[in-house]
Amino acid sequence: MNLIYNIGLLAGIQPEGVLRVEGAAQGRTGMLENAWLAIEDGRIVDFGKMGSVTPGSDRSVMPDPDRASIDACGGMVMPGFCDSHTHVVYAGSRDGEFLDKINGLSYEEIAARGGGILNSADLLQQTSEDELYRQSLVRVQEMMDKGTVAMEIKSGYGLCPEAELKMLRVIRRIQETVPATVKSTFLGAHAIGRGYSHEEYVQAVIDMIPQAAEYADFIDVFCDEGFFTVEDTDRILTAAQHLLTPKIHANELAVSGGVQVGVKHQALSVDHLERTTDAEIEALKGSWTMPTMLPGSSFFLGLPYGRAKDFIKAGLGVALASDYNPGSSPCGDMRFVMAQGCIKMRLTPIEAFNAVTLNSAYAMGVSQEYGSITRGKKAALILSTPGWDLTKLAYHYQTPFIRQMLF
Ligand code: NIG
Ligand code: FE
Repeated sequence: MNLIYNIGLLAGIQPEGVLRVEGAAQGRTGMLENAWLAIEDGRIVDFGKMGSVTPGSDRSVMPDPDRASIDACGGMVMPGFCDSHTHVVYAGSRDGEFLDKINGLSYEEIAARGGGILNSADLLQQTSEDELYRQSLVRVQEMMDKGTVAMEIKSGYGLCPEAELKMLRVIRRIQETVPATVKSTFLGAHAIGRGYSHEEYVQAVIDMIPQAAEYADFIDVFCDEGFFTVEDTDRILTAAQHLLTPKIHANELAVSGGVQVGVKHQALSVDHLERTTDAEIEALKGSWTMPTMLPGSSFFLGLPYGRAKDFIKAGLGVALASDYNPGSSPCGDMRFVMAQGCIKMRLTPIEAFNAVTLNSAYAMGVSQEYGSITRGKKAALILSTPGWDLTKLAYHYQTPFIRQMLF
């Protein structure tokens, strides 16, 4: 057993069985000052106030030389970040398009010139599987260094059967090598692959599903103006029924109908939501689908920020994720995401914290194990230097705060 003692603030405590927080509950989380936390076989077994022993437990809360203990030295202990939406397996860079963007071209204009996702697909097809793994692992390591303990990674830069499978194999290799938990999503329907007509490519995606399902946990479709229609999405998700759970890209470029078709197919999450009307909020009520917003792409592309506050007022929960990718969000820093949730979306620090931990764990199906300080969950934790709390975490959003990570 391990004991962490002298914890200045234990933040993010939730009772067992709470898999997401919605409405007013998103603004609450349990905290204990001056605390200890015990870990056995990598799981949280107990926690309490220094100097206290829980009823029925004979655990001393003083450091014991016979067991591994960590002196938190007054630092904060919190659950590691959960990033439910990333595209970190990609080849090379799109820094040329960064200059086009600075010179005034929109995301759609860059894509229409054959740049964007197709540019990444060309690069990926020319890159060997080993090299793709090597490049991607650097980004995954960067995310873990910034506090992420669980992440989702999508395919979608292959855009032909061979290269999509190459991506899914690389994601599997990452799953097998890193201490963070990694969930895998088949995003064949990210853009129309070169050489296919729209109709041919939708059929090709449908044909790839059985093989993709051997690797992936989820299926995603970029259901948006200029990419895939609601009808395409419906066909693809119908073909994937019983094989892959949906997570949908919706309402980034236009009010796309992607939220409604996602809810219809019991998507675990609908993501982006920069362009949302009250109809989308209504459609999500009573569903098991987690609305997920990606403020990093609003920041990078100059898009509106999602209406997170309105979703919460309507009684829904909201998750935030990084969308780390070369075209719309080249950054996997979940603490920056949390800060943007506060600064740009007016979430309270606790609402934003729950959005980047418990609710984002829910949005990739891992909130039984991750996202809060709960007995029985994985001890996937951030130990900070002294003096931190959840407000400071978002306020001083670039000051280094991590002293140690536990996975
Ligand atoms: O989530 N919007 C679609 N897909 C990604 C961007 C992909 C890219 O531009 O490479 C996103 O923003
Ligand atoms: Fe994305």
